[in-house]
Amino acid sequence: MKLLLKAVTFASAIVATPILAAGWTLDADRSHLAYGSIKKDTVGEVNSFTNLSGHVTQNGKAEIEIDLSSVETNIDIRNERMIEFVFRKAGTASLTANFDMAEVSELAVGETTTVDAASVLSLAGTDVQFDAELFVARLSETSVLVSTYDMVFLSTADAGVNAGVDKLMELASLPGITRTVPITARLIFHTDQEQAATPTEATAVVAAAAIQGDAKAGKKVFRKCSACHKLKEGSHGVGPSLHGIVGATAGQADGFKFSAALHGSDIIWTQETLSAFLADPKGYLPGNRMQFRGLKKDADIINLLAYLQDEG
Ligand code: HEC
Repeated sequence: MKLLLKAVTFASAIVATPILAAGWTLDADRSHLAYGSIKKDTVGEVNSFTNLSGHVTQNGKAEIEIDLSSVETNIDIRNERMIEFVFRKAGTASLTANFDMAEVSELAVGETTTVDAASVLSLAGTDVQFDAELFVARLSETSVLVSTYDMVFLSTADAGVNAGVDKLMELASLPGITRTVPITARLIFHTDQEQAATPTEATAVVAAAAIQGDAKAGKKVFRKCSACHKLKEGSHGVGPSLHGIVGATAGQADGFKFSAALHGSDIIWTQETLSAFLADPKGYLPGNRMQFRGLKKDADIINLLAYLQDEG
C-alpha cells in the first residue's frame, strides 16, 4: 500500500510540472474581460468583450486578442458608437503580459498564487503600459485560472480614447463620463498538450474520456476483427476501415459500400453504442451486413475499444 502510494505521488509529480510548463491556450467560452464606466458621476455600467482569444508561451509571455467589435454594453446603439468612436473600428486590440512562469508551473492542483505582470494594451495605434497583479489558481492538471487580483485602472487619456469618449458624451448628451476605467479579467487556460489531444467533436470527447480498457489486451481481441477490418485510413476489406471509429458517425467512411441499415442509422460510435453493437451486431442493428456473432465478454469489448481509440 505504502509503495503504491509512493509510486502514484511520484508519477503525478513527473506529470504535473512539464504539463504546466507547456504553453497555454485561452478557453474563450469560460473567460471574461470587462471594464466599468461611470456616467453623470452616479451611473455605473459594466461593458465586456464576448470574443477573446489568446495564448501564453512556456516562458510566460501572454498574448490576448480582444475582438473590439464584440463589445457588449447591453445597448446596441451604444455598442456601435463604442466601435466607431472609441475603438475607431480598430478590429482587435491586443493585451500582452509577461510574468514569471516558474512560479506558476510549481503550483499543485488547488493551490493559488499571485504574480506581477508587466502588461501592454495596444489599442488603435496607442500602447499603454501598466503593471497588473494577477491571481493564479491551478484548477486541474491541465488548466489554470488567471484573474486580476484587484481592478486595474486605465486612463482614457493614456489609452488615446479621450476624443472618442468626448464624442459619446456629446451624442448621448451626458454631462460627464469618468476618464479612468476599472478593468477586471477572469481567464481560463488549458495547457496545449490537452488541447492537442482533444478531439474536436463533443461526442468524441465523451467517448474518449470514458474508455478505461487495456489497449494492449485489446490488440489481441482485434485479431477477431482483422480478417475483415484494418485500422489504416481508407483501407477497406470485407469490412470498412475502422480508422477514427470512436466518435465517428456510423456508415460514413469514404469508399466503402455500407448497408442501408448502417449508412442511414445516425448512430454515433461512442463507448456505449460500440459496446452494444459489438456484443450483438445483428440484435443491435438489424439488417447490417457484418457477419460476426459478437463478443461475449465485457472486458474484451472495453479493452478492444481502448485499442481502437488509441490506435485507430
Ligand atoms: C466477417 C467480416 C467481419 C468481421 C469478423 C468483423 N466485421 Fe465489423 N463489419 C463488417 C462489415 C461487412 C461491416 C459493414 C456492415 C454494413 O455495412 O452493414 C462492418 C461494420 C463494422 C462497424 C461499423 C463501421 C462504421 O463505419 O460505421 C464496426 C464499428 C465494426 N464493424 C467493428 C468490428 C469489430 C470491432 C470487429 C471485431 C470484434 C468486427 N467488426 C468484426 C465485417 C466484419
